[in-house]
Amino acid sequence: MALMRGVAVAWLLGSRGLPFAAATARASTAGAQYQHILVGKKGEKENVGFIQLNRTKALNALCDSLMKEVSQALDEFENDPAIGAIVITGSEKAFAAGADIKEMENKTFQECYGGNFLSQWNRVATTKKPVIAAVNGYALGGGCELAMMCDIIYAGDKAQFGQPEILLGTIPGAGGTQRLTKAVGKSLAMEMVLTGDRISAQEAKASGLVSKIYPAAQVVDEAIRCGEKIAFNSKLITAMAKEAINGAFELTLAEGNRLEKHLFHSTFSTSDRKEGMSAFVEKRKANFTDQ
Ligand code: CAA
Repeated sequence: MALMRGVAVAWLLGSRGLPFAAATARASTAGAQYQHILVGKKGEKENVGFIQLNRTKALNALCDSLMKEVSQALDEFENDPAIGAIVITGSEKAFAAGADIKEMENKTFQECYGGNFLSQWNRVATTKKPVIAAVNGYALGGGCELAMMCDIIYAGDKAQFGQPEILLGTIPGAGGTQRLTKAVGKSLAMEMVLTGDRISAQEAKASGLVSKIYPAAQVVDEAIRCGEKIAFNSKLITAMAKEAINGAFELTLAEGNRLEKHLFHSTFSTSDRKEGMSAFVEKRKANFTDQ
């Protein structure tokens, strides 16, 4: 509970629903005041970190300060031992309509290259705890890339995914060409990136970009429910499982299998591995202690 303060957060606490309530109040955590996001803990045990992008008028365009706040909130959840998974969502109309075009309009190459523009977004992809994107409405450009930095994507049935940067005279710059291609394959990724055309939630599901589709009003609840399931398990072992799967994106098959074997063997040095197997043998529910 140390993380939570303030009216907006109280509003978020203890509820699974209310995904689209317009929240104008600032959310705060113990150390941080947030302007563009709402932050809270969700789930019956309040073990799911919850970040709602809250720049609704700009369709959650991902300005620099918003992404800094997301990083800060992720840092807090990473350091909170009670949190076992994190959900990131937007509004009913837009998960996020991309990087902030108004902020980018007058940027120079020197500023982008010198300042390593957008590199700090990678904080989402390097989060150790599992992150679930609950996507309604537009997930375009950087919005689609933000969703793809998460570990699991749930989509509302009206969600739309796209990489329309080509229409602005640029290309995806936060991993879109790489993660989209790995998720949906070369042909569809090329088509989306070269034409700027969007795909529906149903096409995203068929192509493997998202794992589940729900009616728009349910997708946040379902993402939280998934987070609760994940949070029930050992956080230590969960982190190893996530590391192993992420290895598949960066390593050869042989290297990936070696990493997996190493991590699998490592689970045998933990109390939670022993507890999990003993609980099975003794026909009881495991009680993981993250040790
Ligand atoms: N950046 C800044 N502002 C944005 C924005 C963005 N990416 N997307 C929407 N907005 C703003 C609009 O400018 C508008 O603001 P005003 O009311 O002040 O004019 C407000 O949000 C509402 O937008 P629209 O009036 O355009 O809403 P719509 O319902 O008619 O259209 C939309 C919705 C199709 C999503 C349209 O807003 C759109 O095409 N947005 C841009 C999508 C895009 O090109 N994204 C890629 C950005 S580049 C990028 O992300 C690079 C990268 O790889 C990281």
